[in-house]
Amino acid sequence: MPLIAVLPGDGIGPEVTTQARRVLEALGLDLQFEEAPVGGAGYLASGRPLPPETLALAKRADAVLFGAIGDPRFEGLERRLRPEAALLGLRRELGLFANIRPATLFPGLEDASPLKPEVVAGLDIVIVRELTGDVYFGEKGRRSTHEGLRQGYDWMGYDEAEVERIAIVGFEMARRRRGKLCSVDKANVLETSQLWRDVVGEVAAQYPDVELTHMYVDNAAMQLVRRPADFDVIVTGNLFGDVLSDQASMCAGSIGMLPSASLSAWSGANGMYEPIHGSAPDIAGQGRANPCAAILSSAMLLRHSLGEDACAARIENAVAKALVAGARTADLGGSLTTGQMGDAVLRELK
Ligand code: NAD
Ligand code: IPM
Ligand code: MN
Repeated sequence: MPLIAVLPGDGIGPEVTTQARRVLEALGLDLQFEEAPVGGAGYLASGRPLPPETLALAKRADAVLFGAIGDPRFEGLERRLRPEAALLGLRRELGLFANIRPATLFPGLEDASPLKPEVVAGLDIVIVRELTGDVYFGEKGRRSTHEGLRQGYDWMGYDEAEVERIAIVGFEMARRRRGKLCSVDKANVLETSQLWRDVVGEVAAQYPDVELTHMYVDNAAMQLVRRPADFDVIVTGNLFGDVLSDQASMCAGSIGMLPSASLSAWSGANGMYEPIHGSAPDIAGQGRANPCAAILSSAMLLRHSLGEDACAARIENAVAKALVAGARTADLGGSLTTGQMGDAVLRELK
């Protein structure tokens, strides 16, 4: 029986994860769930954001359903004790280098985006974000300049193997979709990005059926607002992918709509599934969070880690039907609570 590690985390993490788990349980699959604290909750439980038992469970499980981490009370702690260290630790320890972030406009949500309906119509993008390298994982620290000024530094870098494996994910994804891959970098300034661009170009030789373009990240940010629906697959580094995926979420109506899969291989591997949003301390505990991103993450879990494609499609269709029927949380301009939105999806699942 497949084991799902459930790591709800902090803030709205537990609220949205509860709804995702309800949906998974309603499918009638033989699944086993085991829950563990992570992030601020992990720190409170055991003095460490990623308790060893939580990491062991994540490693043992067939897939991880992750909520969100982040708690303002712990922002002043040394970095290794902050909630974010748990998420970065899980990604590194599980080797989850490929982060798939689909941004799709569900029918009926055209008016939920601050962009004009005709601009976001037909939006169907996948952002393939590298997840275990870049400036996130380079050496970082504080030092003193020659003038005695405090200086902070973070080393940015990719080696060619890291770029090659994420480029392959981008090309494979594009090949299965509309055949267009846009690689986003800052090669006009950064040497890290020039290597990225060179290696992506080399990998392209194995994918003559995919149309590859390169774009600087500043232009990509602008084009995501100007003509988002023209993108098919975007492949980019850890930092640029973090920023662009939050931006793309608003093309789809709300950050509460975007799921993600973090994978250690292109197919057939364990993975971690989570909304792209954070713990949203500003609305935590109020029942106002949109659970769709978490629910859609559970669909990605079924598809990518358990091979349950039909059940994944059932969940996605249920979310689509609930939205067409008018179900909306506050971020989408409605008044449903998190639990009521979960109810609406469950009704369509039956
Ligand atoms: P955030 O994504 O938590 O929230 C940004 C804004 O979007 C807030 O106004 C929030 O209310 C809203 N929002 C987010 N998710 C929503 C949902 N499901 N429904 C409705 N509204 C939603 O980002 P932030 O405020 O910059 O960060 C808060 C904390 O979360 C920080 O500690 C940060 O480090 C952490 N964080 C964690 C993750 C993660 O666990 N993957 C991702 C991003 C941020
Ligand atoms: C995300 C988050 C994380 C990231 C933080 C919380 C470490 O913003 O998953 O998008 O930057 O990757
Ligand atoms: Mn982010």
